[in-house]
Amino acid sequence: MTSDATTTEAVKQASPYEMIGGAATVRRIVDRFYDIMDSAPEAAGIRAMHAADLGPMRETLFEFLSGWLGGPRSYAKCIMSAHRPFAIGDAERDAWMLCMRRALTDSGVTGELYDLLDDAFLRMASAFRNR
Ligand code: HEM
Repeated sequence: MTSDATTTEAVKQASPYEMIGGAATVRRIVDRFYDIMDSAPEAAGIRAMHAADLGPMRETLFEFLSGWLGGPRSYAKCIMSAHRPFAIGDAERDAWMLCMRRALTDSGVTGELYDLLDDAFLRMASAFRNR
């Protein structure tokens, strides 16, 4: 196989954004994520770190995730720096992952795609720990 053919194959592959179902599914995941953060006792600690009104964060996370998954890009900040002001350790990372795992499952994300995203979220959330 020539390198040209390899490139063509790579371009044909769907992005995670497309595989997941595009904007509608990303929106569903984000909405579930913050509903869970707002109500799960395990997430009370990280909920308290967020503003009282989660409305603006629903928009920001939607924008970030859309670009991160390979869809439209409109989030242009450094996500890592955005988390430096907050004390994030194992407990906070685990609470965030609990909300995201439930949100993915509730949004119908299963199988290999779930495993892929779970792995990527876990790596990112682990990297945000600063204490
Ligand atoms: C590891 C545990 C995490 C904790 C405790 C945490 C907590 C927070 C807090 C307190 C804020 C500020 C919210 C506000 O202004 O009301 C924030 C912002 C944000 N978080 Fe996280 N976060 C975590 C992980 C993540 C991960 C893994 C992602 C992405 C997959 C993410 C995406 C975002 C985004 C996009 C913002 C908005 C930043 C901005 O532009 O101002 N967070 N997070």
